[in-house]
Amino acid sequence: MLDTTTLRNDILKLKEERDAIILAHNYQVGEVQDIADVVGDSLELARAATTMDGKVIVFCGVDFMAETAAILSPEKTVLLPAPDACCPMAEMITAEELRLVKSRYPDAAVVCYVNTTAEVKAESDICCTSSNAVKVVQSLEQDEVIFVPDRNLAWYVARFTKKQILPWEGFCIVHDQITAEFVRTARQQHPGALVLVHPECRPEVIDAADHVASTSGIIRHVCTSEKKEFIIGTEVGILHRIAHECPGKACYPLSEAAVCRNMKKTDLFTVRDALDRLQPRITVPQGIARSARRAIDRMLVL
Ligand code: 13P
Ligand code: SF4
Repeated sequence: MLDTTTLRNDILKLKEERDAIILAHNYQVGEVQDIADVVGDSLELARAATTMDGKVIVFCGVDFMAETAAILSPEKTVLLPAPDACCPMAEMITAEELRLVKSRYPDAAVVCYVNTTAEVKAESDICCTSSNAVKVVQSLEQDEVIFVPDRNLAWYVARFTKKQILPWEGFCIVHDQITAEFVRTARQQHPGALVLVHPECRPEVIDAADHVASTSGIIRHVCTSEKKEFIIGTEVGILHRIAHECPGKACYPLSEAAVCRNMKKTDLFTVRDALDRLQPRITVPQGIARSARRAIDRMLVL
């Protein structure tokens, strides 16, 4: 059995040999965050995939994130160390289903959350992430907006616009199980703590919270706030980065059960093996990649 130090050294050596960068989402396990070149939210990682040098991107996250990197950097080798790390919400709508909705609302714009397959992005006018969804919708000319697949994010966006939002009925299995009762209990246990939640939470949780933001937005809020105590309403992996970047702040998970099993499939072993074998690779067929890229680029220029 290899120890962590040996694995880390192997990874650093292979990274050099392969001219690779390691990108990790804020929900990754601590040891993976610690070895990454960039740890961030979906938008920050998509940007890093386009701006950073390196022939190989090791994407420590879930499939749609690696697919987005492959669409944005087709000349690079994109590796997803745990090939079965998927996002169940992204599987909740297919391109065929989206085409059907579009045929029913031909005048509506189509906004897809980045948590979608490349095929669904290819059918969309513009992509968004949790950090820019409101801005993306506000930028559109159309008054009707089909928003897929997250109903909770769609309802959150609807609070900030007069446009008619037509949500798809998808949801995140991790965030959707958090209820307003969790917020009431947490506030009793930690009176005075600020409640920060992700917009994938249900509307009643959003109503009960003090601040709503993307994963990196939550981290920034903790670091820059004068408050000392926070209740964090998103996946628990984020607490590792908060502890690292905002020492001196006390953070409590809103739900200990908010664990994304797919985000936890990557560890130092899978990262080392991916770099060693240059597998598993994520590729997107050219035609789909071209159309999907239009939707992603349109978001990035905002
Ligand atoms: P962020 O873009 O806020 O990191 O969210 C991604 C995600 O999958 C949240 O569940
Ligand atoms: Fe998908 Fe939810 Fe996991 Fe985010 S936390 S990757 S939305 S299942």
